Amino acid sequence: MNDILITNGRVIDPASGRDEVANVAIAKGFIAAISTGRPRAVETIDAEGKIVCPGLIDMHVHCREPGHEEEETIATVSAAAVAGGFSTICAMPNTHPPVDDETGVQYVLQQAARAGLARVLPVGCITKGREGKELAEMGLMLETGAVAFSDDGDGVASTGVMVRALQYANMLGAPILQHCQDPDLMTGVMNSGAVAVRLGLGGINAAGEQIMLRRDLELVERTGARYHAMHVSSAGSVELIRQAKERNLPVTAEATPHHLLLTDAACMTYDPNYKVNPPLRTAADVEALREGVADGTIDCLVTDHAPHSKEEKELEFGLAPFGIISLDCAVGLFARALIETGACDWVDVIRALTANPALAMGHKATGLGTLAVGAPADVTIIDPKKRWTVDVRKFRSKARNCPYHGWKLKGRPVTTIVGGKVRFSL
Ligand code: DOR
Repeated sequence: MNDILITNGRVIDPASGRDEVANVAIAKGFIAAISTGRPRAVETIDAEGKIVCPGLIDMHVHCREPGHEEEETIATVSAAAVAGGFSTICAMPNTHPPVDDETGVQYVLQQAARAGLARVLPVGCITKGREGKELAEMGLMLETGAVAFSDDGDGVASTGVMVRALQYANMLGAPILQHCQDPDLMTGVMNSGAVAVRLGLGGINAAGEQIMLRRDLELVERTGARYHAMHVSSAGSVELIRQAKERNLPVTAEATPHHLLLTDAACMTYDPNYKVNPPLRTAADVEALREGVADGTIDCLVTDHAPHSKEEKELEFGLAPFGIISLDCAVGLFARALIETGACDWVDVIRALTANPALAMGHKATGLGTLAVGAPADVTIIDPKKRWTVDVRKFRSKARNCPYHGWKLKGRPVTTIVGGKVRFSL
């Protein structure tokens, strides 16, 4: 007897090339069968007119725990994740203290188990204290359950440290996730250009992203290590990654809803909810990013969910912290940016939220991101026609620093199943 049977949905599983109307049976926490038959089950979920796909994976989430529980906790971010259709999130280590040893990794796993909603895969720091000087205990963190390494929030500036990080990560078989930003060129609070000049705000030139990315790609070529470019924001970076892939380098990349939807013109409002790092750039950059997702240069879609307290985000633009939240509403945003514009179809978007992040994270995420029979039963059901209005007051996230309040979107997850258990249902 199965536990759950999801009937008549359009089953999209890019990992196995499946796109057909079928029934998905779940038993004992695993995918038991996908067929047009109707095996018996304790519970039936009617998915007619809906998309049934692997549980979505967001490989870039700031959980703020430990240290800033007033902004977000692993429990609240897990609730936001499943409400947004995500069965798995990767927890960034720029916490207080940073997750740079095995006790930090253990803590994240323990809090995630306590929350019991989404899978939370810890990412460990590349360097001790995120100081960019000495490598963190990468091996021990991996043994304890970390899946990748990143100093996100900052790029690793030292070429010597970065090359050693890549060599170690390569030996351990884990990817390095890099926040590409040369710190010497981190000279402002928004994109450099006409809007920054008009507003009298310091600019951050896209060259700072591209210079670090260009250097790193050279190091990847030398070391053979797996490398993932985080929150890519500029047309020049998309082109560098495209060329690296043509040379068969083991490189993956991600894009966020805000870089796919918004430009620096939004900063004209002086609203700190548009202050993000890397900054919102130009319409040409947005276009290049959409093309990058469409042609597979950008493999993964992520939120870079970055919660901040109301008090901090109410500071003036120059003083407020960088960050935007979107876990609760990401699927509708990706549909707006990529499907409604004609750049991609649902299969492309789901691939970038399932199979591709599982591949980018590597062996620790094996079994996730697919509906293959025998895989863990992480399943998301999306209503692609559902029209709804973003209301930040209803978010499960603790934070409210979201520029999409009031946006009318089409497409929304209605059910999220994690390990065979329904963890969200609209
Ligand atoms: O806008 C951002 N916020 N970018 C980052 O890289 C870090 C993040 C945060 O932690 O707030």
